[in-house]
Amino acid sequence: MEFKIKSGDLAKQKTPCLILGLFENQKLSGTAEIVDQASGGHLSEILGKGDLDGKTGRTLMLYGVPGISCERVLLVGCGKPKGLNRRSYRKALAAAVTLLDDTGTTAALCTLPELVPEAMDLYHRVRDAVTICADKVYRYDQTKSEKTPRRYPLERLDIWVSNRRDTKTAGHAANHGAAISQGVCLARDLGNLPGNICTPAFLADQAIDLGKKHPKMRVEVLEEKDMEALGMGALLSVSRGSRQPAKLIVMEYKGGQKGEKPVVFVGKGLTFDAGGISIKPAAEMDEMKFDMCGAASVFGAMKTALELELPINLVGVVPSSENLPDGDANKPGDIVTSMSGQTIEILNTDAEGRLILCDALTYSERFNPAVVLDMATLTGACVVALGKHPCGLFTQNDKLATEILAAGEAAGDPAWRMPLWDDYQEELDSNFADMANIGSRWGGAITAACFLSRYTKRYPWAHLDIAGIAWRNGKEKGATGRPVSLLAQLLLERSGQLK
Ligand code: BES
Ligand code: MN
Ligand code: ZN
Repeated sequence: MEFKIKSGDLAKQKTPCLILGLFENQKLSGTAEIVDQASGGHLSEILGKGDLDGKTGRTLMLYGVPGISCERVLLVGCGKPKGLNRRSYRKALAAAVTLLDDTGTTAALCTLPELVPEAMDLYHRVRDAVTICADKVYRYDQTKSEKTPRRYPLERLDIWVSNRRDTKTAGHAANHGAAISQGVCLARDLGNLPGNICTPAFLADQAIDLGKKHPKMRVEVLEEKDMEALGMGALLSVSRGSRQPAKLIVMEYKGGQKGEKPVVFVGKGLTFDAGGISIKPAAEMDEMKFDMCGAASVFGAMKTALELELPINLVGVVPSSENLPDGDANKPGDIVTSMSGQTIEILNTDAEGRLILCDALTYSERFNPAVVLDMATLTGACVVALGKHPCGLFTQNDKLATEILAAGEAAGDPAWRMPLWDDYQEELDSNFADMANIGSRWGGAITAACFLSRYTKRYPWAHLDIAGIAWRNGKEKGATGRPVSLLAQLLLERSGQLK
C-alpha cells in the first residue's frame, strides 16, 4: 500500500474517492462543509433526505457530486462531535477502508485526520489512518489454492491536511505508520502459517532472509549442538519431544552508535504446542500454532526498525521449538539444568514456554543490554485475568513499566501492569530442584513471570504475556500482529524519532 500526504484546495483534488466525515444530526465536518459549498449544497441536500444518520462507522457513497474533481465521495459517520475519541475515530476509518476495499476504487483521499478526536495530535491521527488502513486490507492467502479474489483492492490512501505547514509532521506519521504496518503484516503472516510449514527451521530462514536485505543486520542461528555446548538444558529438553530440531535465532541490527547498549527483544517461538506428555485437550488445539506469536512480534519489530533505518542498536533473540509428546519427551518430574546453572523440576510439560525462554534470557546477558523485553504467549491464566484487550506487563522496574505502558497507549496497543511481588515466588519451590516450572492453580500468569524473573537479574527486564492479544479466535481467527506496534513505539521513542 502507498500513503501520500496531500494539501491545498480540497475541491480541486483529483481522486477516485474523497472520504469525508459527518456527525450525527447531519452536521458536516469542517472539510465536508468545504465540499458542500463547492458543490452548491449537494451534500446537505442529500443528507436532508435522511439516508445517513452519522452514527460512528455508517457510510454512504455518493457519485457525480457537482463542483469538485473527484469521482466519488464517501461520507463516513463519526458520531457526536463531542464524543469523538480515538476509539470512534478508528472505527470510522476502519468502516471507510473496509467499504473501499470491496468497491471499484483502488485509491482514495482521506480527510478524516482533519477531525480532532479528544487528546489526539495530528501525528497520531495520521499514523492511525495508515495503520488502520493497512490492517483492514490485510489478507492471508498463502495456503489457499485460489488467492482471495479481489477485483479492485485498495492500493493507495492519500491523506489530506488542511494546513500546509502540517505536511512534514503528517509525512513522518505516514512513514512510521507504513513501516509499523509492514512489521505487523509480517508478524500476522508468520503467525497465520500452519505448524507444518512454520517450523523452527522456517523461522530461522525468515531471519536469514531479513538479514540478507539489510547490511546493518547480522543473523546467527544456533543449532542444537551449539545450545548443548552452552548448557541450554531447559530449551533442549523441550525440543527433545519433537522431530523438528530447535533453533536459537539471533538477529543483531546495528543502527545506533558503536558501543551503545542495545535493546533486546526476546520472543517465544513455539511453532506448535501440543503440551507434550501433559497433553492439551483436543478442542481448539490448532490455535497452538500461534504459540510463536512472541517470536513473530520480534520479527515484526525488527522489520519496522530496518524499514525506518532507526538509529538504534536492536537485538532479536528467538528460541524456537515444538512441544510434542514423544518417547524422548520431557516427563513430569524430570529435572533439567538451565544455562544459568539453576535446576528445574518439570511438573507440567505444558509449561514449556518458560523453559525455552529462560535459556534465551540467560543467553541475552552477552549483549550487555540496555533493556530486555520478552514477548510470549505464556499462559492461559493471563487471558482469564485480562481478557483479550491488553497484554499483561510484568516487571519490578517501575520506570520501565511506565515507559512500556505509555508506549502501548500511544500505539493503541495497550498493556496492563500485573503484580510481580516476591510473595508469589515461593509457589515455585521444589523438593528436588532449585525450582519447579509451575506454581499452584492461582495466579498462573504471575508465577510464570516469577519463573522468568529468576533468569533476568543482570539487566533491566520486563515481560509481556501476549496470550490474549496475539490472535483472534472464532470466525475472525487469525494473528493480530500485536504487540508489534507497542514495540515499534518503544523503538521510535528510544531512538529519538518523536521529539
Ligand atoms: N502456550 C500456552 C499458553 C496458552 C494457552 C496461550 C492457551 C493461549 C491459550 C502455554 O505453553 C501453556 O500451555 N501454559 C499453561 C501453563 C500451565 C501448565 C501452568 C497454561 O496456561 O495452561
Ligand atoms: Mn504449553
Ligand atoms: Zn506454549
